[in-house]
Amino acid sequence: MKKIKVYITVMAVSILALTSCKSKTTPFLGKSSIEDVIEAMTLEEKVALVVGTGLKFGDSIDKNSPFPIPNQPAPGSLAAKSKVYVSGAVGRTLEIPRLGVNTIEMVDGPAGVSFMSRSTAYPIGTALSSSWDVDLVKKIGECMGNETLEYGLDILLAPAINIHRNPLTGRNFEYFSEDPLLSGKMGAALINGIQSQGAGTSLKHFVANNQETNRIEVDAIISERALREIYLKGFEIAIKESDPWTLMASYNSVNGNLATENYDLLTKVAREDWGYEGIIMSDWEAGKDPVKQMKSGLNLLMPGPYQDTVLLQAVKDKKLDEKVLDENISWILNGAMKVQKFKDYKYSNKPNLEENASIARSAAAQGMVLLKNENEALPLSDKGQNLALFGNGSYETIVGGSGSGFVMRAGPTVHIIEGLKNQNFNVSKSLEDIYTAYISENTPPTGMIDMTRGRKKRAPEMLLDEKLIQTMANESDLAIITIARISGETTDRSIEGNFKLTEVELNNINNVSQAFHAKGKKVIVVLNIGGVIETASWKDLPDSILIAWQPGQEAGNSIADVLSGNVNPSGKLTASFPMKYEDDPSAKNFPGTPVDNPKQVIYEEGIYVGYRYYNTFGVETSYPFGFGLSYTNFSFGDLSLSNTEFKNELEVSITVTNEGELSGKEVVQLYVSAPTGNLEKPIQELKAFAKTKNLAPKESETITFKIDITSLTSFDSEASAWVAEAGQYIVKVGASSEDIKTEKTFNLGKDRVVQKVNKALVPQVKINELSAKQ
Ligand code: BGC
Repeated sequence: MKKIKVYITVMAVSILALTSCKSKTTPFLGKSSIEDVIEAMTLEEKVALVVGTGLKFGDSIDKNSPFPIPNQPAPGSLAAKSKVYVSGAVGRTLEIPRLGVNTIEMVDGPAGVSFMSRSTAYPIGTALSSSWDVDLVKKIGECMGNETLEYGLDILLAPAINIHRNPLTGRNFEYFSEDPLLSGKMGAALINGIQSQGAGTSLKHFVANNQETNRIEVDAIISERALREIYLKGFEIAIKESDPWTLMASYNSVNGNLATENYDLLTKVAREDWGYEGIIMSDWEAGKDPVKQMKSGLNLLMPGPYQDTVLLQAVKDKKLDEKVLDENISWILNGAMKVQKFKDYKYSNKPNLEENASIARSAAAQGMVLLKNENEALPLSDKGQNLALFGNGSYETIVGGSGSGFVMRAGPTVHIIEGLKNQNFNVSKSLEDIYTAYISENTPPTGMIDMTRGRKKRAPEMLLDEKLIQTMANESDLAIITIARISGETTDRSIEGNFKLTEVELNNINNVSQAFHAKGKKVIVVLNIGGVIETASWKDLPDSILIAWQPGQEAGNSIADVLSGNVNPSGKLTASFPMKYEDDPSAKNFPGTPVDNPKQVIYEEGIYVGYRYYNTFGVETSYPFGFGLSYTNFSFGDLSLSNTEFKNELEVSITVTNEGELSGKEVVQLYVSAPTGNLEKPIQELKAFAKTKNLAPKESETITFKIDITSLTSFDSEASAWVAEAGQYIVKVGASSEDIKTEKTFNLGKDRVVQKVNKALVPQVKINELSAKQ
């Protein structure tokens, strides 16, 4: 009896202990504090949470595929047990249902939601930024965010905002500009748009992922000043102005440390200097040492899952303090509570693809840049004209770049020929037949994997024989020649045959121009490209040149909108087009040394990237940064400054008037020239920009900019501070970096130290940096 009584008492105490233990020790994310949730995790759960669950694609994977799928979780592991919610997502974090910890599912961008042929292919990043229209980019962000949300996904791996350091970089098409202000503002606009819908973003690739050649092993050696002013600046602006939910550290090293293992970069700069509060994660499989990554402030190792055992052992061996894991987990949980899975949002699987396609169409047209337009060759107001369409790209138009940035689109591509036919232009049927047969006979087969990454093989350009050109010049009223280029992840472009036009392309432009001009007929070149190409050697030949970029799935419709004049072009270049490749300031240090397998790339051009170099050193460009024509023309009135002495802020106003016959928009660019004090300065830097509304003929708009002290600062590496140096400043406003319309000066009375930051990312290799003082 006594025994039974004791037994009952023990039972009762245990049950009581268990229930009180349960209510006390089984916290739930969202209902309990993050600290309590972390405390309730097992060590196994912790290490599995700071790494992703592997590349589990779900149903979208062809189970009979002969290709091995990398990074699969070990059978029976926590990662293996975690669920795939949306098939086709490119990565996800561990869910721990007993603690209410939901997964975060991620999908590739940045030109749309990159999975399963169900989403919209928007214009590439360079095309969007060429609109110089932050409202439009935000709108595109809203569409992308809505597609992400309505397909049940949590994070769109976008935007990508690395600087266009060199024209050959294979992923420049994903990036916005050679200028950090423009990159940062565009990035912020896209992020604000996406996140307004309840989907998250990943600002990438942090930082200096400015080449694809050996991107995993290359060490970018960059001065502190160039890092702060050029390569980090865009990220700083985007983080401060839009608070992306995640930040993706890149593959490469920066000044001796891998970006994902770089305490200076991730903790000192992103967390401490900028106050970043989202999840910091790795690019896919980036980095070597998971323990160092954890200690550097990398919260999440994507896509996982293979690093968990190393981390577990490191904690057991006391090489990694469990508190470091906890700290990283707290950032992940904080982020997990923002996503739709946490909120149990009932997604529809039905975003409005029709509406999004029409928004993509109009955005693409807004980003097109008219480089040349002689003899009013454009717009093609007379739709009765017979058009001869040359170039493979007229029939197989390139929508976007390849690799993870490729979007399997919902709609079929509208090729240029279809876009023109849709607007009732007559296009030569016999030429169409010749090209269609040629392309189908000369296109090599493409494997499945390449197909899904947008690496469809293309037929080489056809050399046009003289007889055919002559017949076309007789039969048609006008020639359109499309030059097409595609590039993407893992490879940079070549100079010969890619940056430069091929012999065949040059011959075709030359021969078509001669034959058509001999008959008094015009020639238009459409550039269906993702980045800067050589133009100086052939630009005199055609009457008009239009950069259409890679315009997304509505390509042909958008191009026809601009050619026909339905849309007046208003895009401007976001990167300089050099006279020749060798003129580019980074050319002699790209892609690094040794050249066939670069381990190191020294950024000897320092802060003199793009127009900062061309303008300061007086090097002629083929087309300068900020350049782009319109079918109308604009005048700029006088500049008005609120003060000639700078106190805390300055207001700058300018009135722009449409002087032509057609309505149109102008991009107003504000550059500042700072005085040379202790620090040398580029001759001018973009500090603000705005796009006018669509101005009717004779209509004016007054644009007002506010300049605060941060626009006057340069980075002083000795002092680790942003400083504004005393002296005379010039505000310049114009229509391109080389077309300044009006300027005024103001004075800053005293030197000002505007912000002290951490000493960080100091190069360990001597840099023979370019200087304007030499
Ligand atoms: C790319 C990232 C991409 C990730 C996931 C990486 O190879 O560099 O931009 O988001 O893969 O697909």
